[in-house]
Amino acid sequence: VRIPAGQLIGKEIIHFEEIDSTNNYAKKIANEGCRDGTVVVSERQTMARGRVGRQWESFTNEGLWFSIVLRPDLEPEYIKIVTLAAAVAVVEGISEVQGIVCGIKWPNDIILNGRKLGGILTELSAEPEHINYVVVGIGININQDKNSFNAEIKNKATSLRIHTGETVSRVRLLEGILTGFDRIYSIMLQRRTQEIIDSWSGYSVTLGKEVKIVLKNTEYIGLAQSIASDGRLIVKCNDGVIREIAAGEIQVRGL
Ligand code: BTN
Repeated sequence: VRIPAGQLIGKEIIHFEEIDSTNNYAKKIANEGCRDGTVVVSERQTMARGRVGRQWESFTNEGLWFSIVLRPDLEPEYIKIVTLAAAVAVVEGISEVQGIVCGIKWPNDIILNGRKLGGILTELSAEPEHINYVVVGIGININQDKNSFNAEIKNKATSLRIHTGETVSRVRLLEGILTGFDRIYSIMLQRRTQEIIDSWSGYSVTLGKEVKIVLKNTEYIGLAQSIASDGRLIVKCNDGVIREIAAGEIQVRGL
């Protein structure tokens, strides 16, 4: 893959035909000291991981499967904002290259026509005071057709080709996303987190909606109101309590 180098993100790109998981490889080279912004991309993954211990289907070379190693000079509490920033970069990259504006479901599902187009798995290595590295793993469905998806996700997933009816260049899209990432990353490094939250909120399909918060032992229903300054989702629950949600799963009604 030949991608014009961004300022930082994607200056170095490592390409595989097949690998277990680009996130695993990115973590390995991060531990070995690779440079900030190194990108690992693979045509196929044999053991790709999704959020909350799920598998991520990426056996074909019809999607874009890649990971970015970041070494931001930031404290670990910025990690949730980094995750939101990644989703903004993906949406803006797709919009720039393809002219399609996707939505973001909190924290970082990329949504098109109510279906999942892509997802982001962020993994952090940190000391109490500072971040060692963050691996941002991004998976986007590009040229799959309806029959490419397994039975479990068939009714929940979509691809750019299903939406546009045309084959989409994965290289151009990667380029667009890395360029977008470069811009957002520099905003991140300047700790201009409110700008990231504002952009994220503009693409959100979660805010203003009724959401179900599914925690280990309980569930709450409430109205997703806004994003707190640390990236948590603020939900006004039906029991009258305002809760700030950090992780776990939420379901957005009607999605
Ligand atoms: C999700 O559950 O929504 C997150 C999916 C993240 C998948 C990507 S594909 C590239 C990278 N490598 C992995 O093993 N996972 C991420």
